[in-house]
Amino acid sequence: MRLHVADHPLVAHKLSVLRNKETSSPTFRKLVDELVTLLAYEATRDVRTEPVAVSTPVAETTGVKIAEPLPLVVPILRAGLGMLDGMTRLMPTAEVGFLGMQRDEETLEAITYANRLPDDLTGRQCFLVDPMLATGGTLVAAIDYLIDRGARDVTVVCLLAAPEGLKVLEDHIGDRGDVTIVVAAVDDHLDENAYIIPGLGDAGDRLYGVV
Ligand code: URA
Repeated sequence: MRLHVADHPLVAHKLSVLRNKETSSPTFRKLVDELVTLLAYEATRDVRTEPVAVSTPVAETTGVKIAEPLPLVVPILRAGLGMLDGMTRLMPTAEVGFLGMQRDEETLEAITYANRLPDDLTGRQCFLVDPMLATGGTLVAAIDYLIDRGARDVTVVCLLAAPEGLKVLEDHIGDRGDVTIVVAAVDDHLDENAYIIPGLGDAGDRLYGVV
């Protein structure tokens, strides 16, 4: 497993505004979108391309295009939806699948309540998006789901990660697959309710309100 922490002043600035509890939901949504666009640039560094012939106004040349099978972006519902546009803005030809997962607040285990993904992911590059890598339970289940269906590699894009969750992922993945985690920052620790500290609170609630 590889970990990439985006080291950029704009990322740090936007993340600080997201952390502020006074930031309103509309501003929070807009900033998540901007931040994900910056993270997507890092996360797509190894996206596969193939040569394509291009006629410029003055010459023939060879360029590249994103190779098939097309990359698959998978937001984990519900909070991951707030990151979808930021990813597809940079990769508009990517396909999108959905995975509905939530943690049981008592056992902290991941429960899958919805799934709209192809059964066969052979050779696909997959981009899982979920704002908070806390205990790692949801992402372990989501990564397993993709690798078990043949995904070639999985890049996970998160706003924040906790060291505890990163360790769970690292121990679980081992050499099961090619997994990269891209985050804006790794925070200090998880509290007793599995919230990331200092974190930004409940990402889903801050994006969409408490429903
Ligand atoms: N999920 C969140 O939305 N926030 C946390 O701090 C941890 C998990």
